[in-house]
Amino acid sequence: MAVIAGNWKMYMGPAETRAFFAALQVGAAADRNELIIFPPTVSLGAAVSSPDRDPRVQLGVQNVHWESTGAFTGETSAIMAAEVGAKFALVGHSERRHVFAETDEEVALKVVAARDHGLVPVVCVGETLDERRADRVEEVILRQLRAAVSALAGGQGRFLIAYEPVWAIGTGETATPDDASSAHQTLRAELEASLGIAAALRTPILYGGSVKPSNAAELLSAPEVDGVLVGGASLDPDSFLGIALAGGG
Ligand code: PGA
Repeated sequence: MAVIAGNWKMYMGPAETRAFFAALQVGAAADRNELIIFPPTVSLGAAVSSPDRDPRVQLGVQNVHWESTGAFTGETSAIMAAEVGAKFALVGHSERRHVFAETDEEVALKVVAARDHGLVPVVCVGETLDERRADRVEEVILRQLRAAVSALAGGQGRFLIAYEPVWAIGTGETATPDDASSAHQTLRAELEASLGIAAALRTPILYGGSVKPSNAAELLSAPEVDGVLVGGASLDPDSFLGIALAGGG
């Protein structure tokens, strides 16, 4: 069972969202994989109520604020996203960290808010190109992971990790399956040290960064890769389905 998740970023308004679900026929791919789409918040309602959406395609929100309500213009709380029908929340996506300057501390607060309001957090971690060149991959991804996991303080419930090297996101550059496995192994070992072996084994670690139908099978069969988080290639129903068909074999 692989997790195949699509992060639509700031693409796909409500009408395009309905058209996507009308075109997406997941068939047996939904039996072999856990399928999740993260539409923009403004399209979440359309995704939830889309009559053509196969209910096996679950929905998530791309970002949440850590407070439930308040004077935070433009923000969405976890409790509100859950009310609309989100089941998952991306937290700490690299665009949030690097374009919107989100810190490890804020990511930790958001992970807790998601968990407390019944959303499954998908915690994104990943190094920049400079950090990779400086041989700092382990240091960076462990720091990001520890900040999120320690905030959950034992009451973690279900959560997922997405390893997304920043240099591979939206660039067409993909980590090699060996690079992905090695980072995933580092993350799994840290989960085992902090939460125990059972929790480490049941926490899916997804790879993200220029995943497409042509490279998905190879990445999904790499050791320690439990699924993929797909940006650009998740916007087209055929391409998302192509990736899903590569999973869970
Ligand atoms: P990409 O994005 O597949 O377009 O590289 C991945 C992501 O940002 O989650």
